[in-house]
Formats: sequence, structure tokens, C-alpha cells
Amino acid sequence: MADLEGKGEAKQFYPEVEARQEAFFLKGSGALDWGMQNRLARIFNPASGRTVMLAIDHGYFQGPTTGLERVDLNIVPLLPYANALMLTRGMLRSTIPSAFGGGVVLRASGGPSILKELSNEQLAVDIEDCVRLNVAAMAVQVFVGGEFESQTIHNLTRLVDAGNRYGIVTLGVTAVGKAMTRDARYLRLACRISAELGAQVVKTYYVEEGFETVTASCPVPVVMAGGKKIAELDALKMAYNAISQGAAGVDMGRNIFQSDAPAAMIQAVGKVVHESMKPEQAYEFYQTLRHEKKGVEAGAGR
Ligand code: R5P
Repeated sequence: MADLEGKGEAKQFYPEVEARQEAFFLKGSGALDWGMQNRLARIFNPASGRTVMLAIDHGYFQGPTTGLERVDLNIVPLLPYANALMLTRGMLRSTIPSAFGGGVVLRASGGPSILKELSNEQLAVDIEDCVRLNVAAMAVQVFVGGEFESQTIHNLTRLVDAGNRYGIVTLGVTAVGKAMTRDARYLRLACRISAELGAQVVKTYYVEEGFETVTASCPVPVVMAGGKKIAELDALKMAYNAISQGAAGVDMGRNIFQSDAPAAMIQAVGKVVHESMKPEQAYEFYQTLRHEKKGVEAGAGR
């Protein structure tokens, strides 16, 4: 027991050095349990505090969307550049290699197809299956102002309760129905309701006017949804503006996988998100990769 008594003992215990205390890097997440913070760190890069989430869950209500006909051929090569992947459990199990090291954000609500009223969603996965799949987060659509508003908000709150039991993050997706005005006032309402009711992360659309008020009034990280395909430079500008105005990353689908060069595009988005690269410069980067056809072969950007 000499080592318990010797003089050198105090040296090894560093009694003069204060215990290291590190604040968790994400807004509004400091009081979450270790498991949930660990899952958030699988979605958001701890170095930049931001995420490039690749959304490929479109098939859950609209079938084989353009660019997603063959996820094995068109999406799997993009995985090294994504911090997180948003998708359904069917596509995850059938097609995504289990060695994928990023955060899995599982589509957890569904029901109606594009042929029906989209807001009529129910929860579409059991928490047990989320645990089994080792997902980082569960995504649920919230249709504030929609026909089935209360039902979708109830979906969110039930998912938050289940997620809290197991340390799994709930991502509230603010869905904007066809008849709804997509402006900052509406998005502030929808994001704030989602966060107040327990979502640890919120996904919403970018708006030109007042987006900074949407992020400022939401107490948890906001990720920007991509929306329909626009020109690459415009998509990069939108991502840049959202990041500059407080978004903690992007959750983009069509603007990546419907691009002429998806691998080049996701890497350019990564430059904007993680390095705050100006959109014009990121577009040049995109063009260079595209022309050199380096997209898939270049080093991983995560
Ligand atoms: C929301 O409705 C779903 O998560 C979408 O599938 C996803 O947000 C679409 O991504 P994007 O609009 O960027 O194609």
C-alpha cells in the first residue's frame, strides 16, 4: 500500500488543478442528459457547432422522388460528406451501410400520401425500434395552422416523452401547407411552439425577411430546410444567409441530390456551413469539383 502513502501521490491527483468543466456546444442543450448530448454531437459537428444533414425521406409520402430512385447508387456515395442523414427506417435498413458513422435522423411520422391531406399524420415508428436502430434523432412533422394541427402537435409531444425516456433527440419539422403563408411571423410561431413543447432541434424554411428573428426567438438550434430545387449558387446563398442569421446548419435534400453534381454540391454546402465560406467562393469550389469529376473520390468532409 506504499503508493497510498508516498509523497508522490498528491502529484498524480493534481489537487491544484481544477476539474475540467466544458459547456455543451449547442444552444439550449446544456441541461440535457449525457446520452442526448452525445446524440446531438453525432448530428452537429462539435468543432463548428453546425450540421450538414442530408434529407432523403421524401419517399415516405411521395414515393420515388427524382434523384432518389436508387438510393444505393445516388445517395450512399454522398454519405462521407454528411454529418447526419434524415430518412425512413425502411430505407435505412434496406440500403444504408451500418458502418455509417454520422447521426441518423429517423422519419418518425407519416400516414397520408401526396394524394391525401398531408397534415393527417400519425406517429409511424415505435421508440423501441429507434433504440434498436441506434438513431440520434426522430423527426416529426408539425402542421401549425393545418387541418390536423392538434394531432400533429400531439405526435410531437408523445415523441418527446418517448425520446426523453431513452435519451433520443426529437426534431420538430415545421411543415408549411400549401395554403399557408411562409413568412417570419408564421415560422416564429411554428418553431417556438415546437421548442416550447420539447423538441430539442427544429427544422424550418428560410425566409428573406426576418429569418434572424425566427432563430433568435427559438431557444434550441434551428436547421434550415432546403425546399424545391433552385440553381446551385442560389442554394448556396440561401444556406449562407441562413447560417449568418443564426441557423445551426442545413437539412437539404433536393438541392443536393437533384444537383448536376450531388457530391460536389454537398461538399460546397459543407464549406458554407462549417467554414462560413462566401457563397460565390463555395460555388467556384463546386464548379472545380464538378469539372474535375472529383466529387465522390475526394476526401470526406465531415
Ligand atoms: C419534410 O417534409 C421532409 O423532411 C422532406 O422530405 C425534406 O425536408 C425535404 O428536403 P428538401 O426540401 O430539402 O428536398
